[in-house]
Parts: sequence; structure tokens; C-alpha cells
Amino acid sequence: MSNPFTVSLVCWHDGEPLLKAIRQAVFINEQGVPADMEFDEHDETSRHALALSLQGNGIACGRMFANGHIGRIAVMPEWRGQYVGTAIMEAFLHYAQAHDYAQVDVDAQVQAVPFYEHFDFVAQGEQFMDVGIPHIKMLKKLK
Ligand SMILES: CC(C)(COP(=O)(O)OP(=O)(O)OC[C@H]1O[C@@H](n2cnc3c(N)ncnc32)[C@H](O)[C@@H]1OP(=O)(O)O)[C@@H](O)C(=O)NCCC(=O)NCCS
Repeated sequence: MSNPFTVSLVCWHDGEPLLKAIRQAVFINEQGVPADMEFDEHDETSRHALALSLQGNGIACGRMFANGHIGRIAVMPEWRGQYVGTAIMEAFLHYAQAHDYAQVDVDAQVQAVPFYEHFDFVAQGEQFMDVGIPHIKMLKKLK
């Protein structure tokens, strides 16, 4: 059976209202990230992944810099555990492979490390704090 959602890569200009709503719900409201730190200058220049339900609601997102740095992966609570996050990561990994990236990386929240390990990301170095949440850098080589 096909997924009950679609994933597209979009620019900030096209996806902004839906991307903002998902990140507001997950990072600002749920995780307590300060609103003035959630949206930054990288949004304009990143490639964004946006998952929509078949009804057209925004249900998950993420962003990737031109250097392969992935971040802001967020799935709305009611859609977790249904491989929407996996579909977002696969969209970025397909893009990175198609564009000959040597590697991709993510600053993973420590609680989400097992999610990234599913895609063979490997933890690097020490944990660090960002926006009050413990993180660790993880790397996936593509070559
Ligand atoms: C982390 C997150 C993106 C995962 O998305 P998801 O759509 O629920 O994940 P999937 O359904 O694609 O899960 C894929 C696999 O990873 C596992 N997994 C997902 N999140 C996990 C977590 N936090 N801890 C442990 N395992 C996890 C799943 O169990 C699944 O494994 P399985 O195939 O063996 O069953 C989502 O829970 C989320 O948005 N959390 C809040 C925001 C957040 O923490 N973002 C990450 C910032 S670094």
C-alpha cells in the first residue's frame, strides 16, 4: 500500500507557511525552543523537505544546507512512528547522492540518535547543549 502522505523538496519561499507551522508546533511549543532561535538566516538558503497528508495538511519537515548539513527534522506528534521522518530523511539522502555529496551530517538531539542510526549516521565527538537540549554531531559518509 502506498504511504498516506507525500514528501517534496521545496524552497523556503514556497513552503514557508506550512514549514513554520510544523516547526512552531514541534520545536517551539512542544520542545520549548525560544521562538527567536528557531527561524534563522539559513532557512532562505536551505533546501526544505515538506510532508503533506493526503488532505494537504503539513505533517513533517526538515532542512538541508548546500554543504549537506541536515537539521530541523520534525514530525507532528500524531504522525510519529509511521515512517514520515524516514521519508523526509530518504528524500534528503536521495538528493545528496544524486548531487554527488561526499557526506551528510546532523546535529542530533540525543533522544533522537537511534532514529539517525537507522540511516547509518555515526556519532562524532562529545555531546553539547544547543537551545537547552543535549545534542551530538552525527555523520554519514556517502562515498
Ligand atoms: C525523531 C522524529 C523525527 C522521528 O520521526 P518518526 O516519523 O516518528 O520516525 P519513523 O517512524 O520514521 O521511525 C523510523 C525508525 O526510527 C525509530 N525511532 C524514531 N524516533 C525515535 C526515537 N526518538 N528514539 C528511538 N527510536 C526512534 C522508530 O522506532 C523506527 O524504527 P523501526 O523501523 O525499528 O520501528 C520524530 O519523533 C520527531 O519529530 N520528534 C520531535 C522532534 C525531534 O526530536 N526532532 C529531531 C531533532 S534532531
